[in-house]
Amino acid sequence: MGRRADEAPLPTVDTMTTPPTSNPVAIQATTPSPAVTASDLRKTYGRGETAVHALDGVSLALHRGHFTAIMGASGSGKSTLLHLLAGLDSATSGTVHLGGTDLTALDDDALTVLRRERVGFVFQAFNLLPMLTAEQNITLPLELAGARMNAEHRAWLDRLVATLGLRDRLTHRPSELSGGQQQRVAIARALLTQPDVVFADEPTGNLDSRSGAEVLSFLRTCVRELGQTVVMVTHDAQAASYADRVVLVADGRIAGDLSDPTPERVQVALDALRSADSPRSSGGLRGAEILHGASLEAR
Ligand SMILES: Nc1ncnc2c1ncn2[C@@H]1O[C@H](COP(=O)(O)OP(=O)(O)OP(=O)(O)O)[C@@H](O)[C@H]1O
Ligand SMILES: [Mg+2]
Repeated sequence: MGRRADEAPLPTVDTMTTPPTSNPVAIQATTPSPAVTASDLRKTYGRGETAVHALDGVSLALHRGHFTAIMGASGSGKSTLLHLLAGLDSATSGTVHLGGTDLTALDDDALTVLRRERVGFVFQAFNLLPMLTAEQNITLPLELAGARMNAEHRAWLDRLVATLGLRDRLTHRPSELSGGQQQRVAIARALLTQPDVVFADEPTGNLDSRSGAEVLSFLRTCVRELGQTVVMVTHDAQAASYADRVVLVADGRIAGDLSDPTPERVQVALDALRSADSPRSSGGLRGAEILHGASLEAR
């Protein structure tokens, strides 16, 4: 749960819900590492008595060409963090840099262009366009960028479609696809232009374990072979173990940070976080301290 405010916060702006798109020209752009940096990021929903601090001072650097998983309890602020890092929503205070670009300094038009050219996003609720077929949804980023599908795009599209098991679903509309198939279409759309960063909010949440493993392996391959930067929210320790790093979020703050995670280490870290949350537990804080590089905040 987000924490309630004890003083009147600033009003918030809830902007975008349109899918990001990308421009193939921008793929070549080089920007200094890290890929994404957040500094003292805060997001408050509502104001006064009912205000919720969804993010309460998050500072984080996500490295280029890395696969990062973000984990934490429901309501801990994971989606809010992802949306702010991707420039899909504005922070109450603090800054986000995508490469060398300060997102918080951009106006709405510049932010729209940045999202289209440099960010891929897989939404927790897919956000596919109902009137378009699966293939049209996947290629929408190129369409919106005014780019023509060339042979290279076609080959990459073929690989995405084959790997994600969508070959025989391409002419179907989202309403004719299962939740898992819609999820895979959304993943293909986010990866099509190989943007600076792909953000994915629970990309395997609607998949059975086998399709989930295929999608995760594919994301892993994109990171390893293409240098793609991926940031993924997940509840699943097994899914998180595909990442290079796991960042734990609790009550809108960073509560732990593991590199080279295994499912077992992730589970231990999650259990420690849970027991640290429980006021009756005396072993919680001790447990949390074993997190590699943990920066557990006093509550
Ligand atoms: N638009 C909104 N208006 C008011 N409160 C919001 C809004 N969006 C999120 N919140 C609150 O902010 C907090 C963080 O929400 P967020 O969606 O980031 O959590 P989450 O970690 O992604 O949870 P889940 O795992 O359930 O998806 C929650 O307390 C939530 O109720
Ligand atoms: Mg969420």
